Amino acid sequence: MRSTLYAVLWCALVAAAQCSFQKKCSKLARELQVKNATVWFSEFVAAGTNLSFPDTDPSCGQASLVVNVDFCRVAVYVATSSRSGISMEAWLPSDWTGRFLSTGNGGLNGCLSYDDMAYAVELGFSTVGANNGHNGTSGAPFLNNPDVVEDFAWRSVHTNTVVGKQISQAFYHRKHKKSYYLGCSTGGRQGFKSAQSFPEDFDGIVAGAPALDFNNLNSWSGHFYGLTGPVGSPTYLTPEQWNAVHADILAQCDGLDGYVDGILEDPEICQYRPENLICPPGASDTSANSSTCITGTQAGTVRAMFSDLHGSGGALVYPRMQPGSELLGTPYIYYAGTPFSYSADWFRYAVYNDPEWDPATLGPDDYAFSDALNPSDIRTFSGDLSAFRSRGAKILHYHGQMDQIITSAISPRYYDLVARTMGLPSSALDDFYRFFRISGMGHCTGGPGAASIGQGRAAAASLDPDQNVLTALVRWVEKDEAPDTILGTAFSGDGEVVFRRRHCRYPLRNRYTGEGDPQDPDSWECIL
Ligand SMILES: *[C@@H]1O[C@H](CO)[C@@H](O)[C@H](O)[C@H]1NC(C)=O
Ligand SMILES: *[C@@H]1O[C@H](CO)[C@@H](O)[C@H](O)[C@H]1NC(C)=O
Ligand SMILES: *[C@@H]1O[C@H](CO)[C@@H](O)[C@H](O)[C@H]1NC(C)=O
Ligand SMILES: *[C@@H]1O[C@H](CO)[C@@H](O)[C@H](O)[C@H]1NC(C)=O
Repeated sequence: MRSTLYAVLWCALVAAAQCSFQKKCSKLARELQVKNATVWFSEFVAAGTNLSFPDTDPSCGQASLVVNVDFCRVAVYVATSSRSGISMEAWLPSDWTGRFLSTGNGGLNGCLSYDDMAYAVELGFSTVGANNGHNGTSGAPFLNNPDVVEDFAWRSVHTNTVVGKQISQAFYHRKHKKSYYLGCSTGGRQGFKSAQSFPEDFDGIVAGAPALDFNNLNSWSGHFYGLTGPVGSPTYLTPEQWNAVHADILAQCDGLDGYVDGILEDPEICQYRPENLICPPGASDTSANSSTCITGTQAGTVRAMFSDLHGSGGALVYPRMQPGSELLGTPYIYYAGTPFSYSADWFRYAVYNDPEWDPATLGPDDYAFSDALNPSDIRTFSGDLSAFRSRGAKILHYHGQMDQIITSAISPRYYDLVARTMGLPSSALDDFYRFFRISGMGHCTGGPGAASIGQGRAAAASLDPDQNVLTALVRWVEKDEAPDTILGTAFSGDGEVVFRRRHCRYPLRNRYTGEGDPQDPDSWECIL
């Protein structure tokens, strides 16, 4: 009783605006009418709340996070077919800029990107995220259900965006002014899928480390196990040997950009020769962990890892792993001597519908079969962005040059495909599509380079559009000021700024001028 009275007084006198926002939010669940949708709840979340996600699949690894603005949280289920649907949330800030933003997913998941949602809602976007049609990180829900695959391939992001815009409009009683997308990895692929197939959905897209040419990507990411064999095979290298390979790559290629700092500005120009590391006659046991030299057989493994993958007809399946990321991947991922789980799941549950399929048998016939099958047209490798371009939308593409999961070599390959398909040189592509190569960045984030470019909340060194891909995109869309470079920041483990460097847009590459402090961005230049 007393608390009700207090609430009434508080609403009347102290914080009327916030109070009416709260009321509007709690009413939304009852009033919202969306086709095929069930609204679970709408609840006010006060700035500083430590949100936890007890209903989220534990494999998503999202325990809790603190959001620093007031917002209305809405949770909805939308049926996408009689046997599939998406779980989505809309986060609607009290201090709304009039902008809408949709987030993407990662790997084969199944997990709302709550961190990206927190980032965007704090910046005043009405923000949505969805579970991509299934829960958790495993591909098992694809088994014998092409509708769940369809959600994963394109329908979750598109539905989430269409429904999210409706929810935003119902809540604020006006339409959003501009619509944005932010995603990396699978999220980067989802961004390009939107640009290719749903050009009306977004005015601006940030697409990082995109999982382009998705069928072939899974063949490529699965093929490393065939190169290394299991741990202990003659073809397998120990983590210590990968250390030696990495050091040798730097010895051969680090100076190509004019400055030796452990970072290859342009790994494309590194043609690494592993035969340099072959043990001299009489060297001690080369399979021991302490070994820093390798056998001729192991040099064959290394050379194959850094070579393009071709199929049985000789056609390119996927471009090579870029040299330089070995330590970010060691002893994990492609160097671990174990099958790569995303690739194994994709073939088992989406391609063959056979949970017993053995990833050790992966070969050229599987590459050809899966690419021809192309479930739900997931490929995402169309070079035609003309519909996206003609409505004035913009795409900002970035890729870490030390990506240990999706080779950065796929990104220039796609950019060049767009150039050929649309018949446009970079001077014209620059009007709507810009691609930045981020040296020293791992997969979406991390790495020793100036890898904080605003691609996520933890990687936002600054909101200055010269230093932040998201605010740069907003400036580009709304003021037609396109980013020429992206100024990245490198942090030490304890959060100190180590250096900053400007990343160039493709096809330009970054080079130390040879003069001035190499830690100073002005000592570097973008050259052709
Ligand atoms: C948020 O709550 C979780 C428990 O649900 C706790 O582990 C975490 O430390 C809290 N975070 C902060 C910043 O207080
Ligand atoms: C996913 O989890 C949500 C709870 O977070 C649940 O409502 C939904 O039914 C689940 N979806 C599937 C496909 O299991
Ligand atoms: C509603 O669901 C049905 C299948 O259950 C589907 O055919 C239809 O396209 C959906 N409508 C919308 C607006 O998503
Ligand atoms: C090499 O290291 C692995 C773990 O990385 C360990 O299991 C193995 O026993 C080591 N072998 C030798 C010869 O030290």
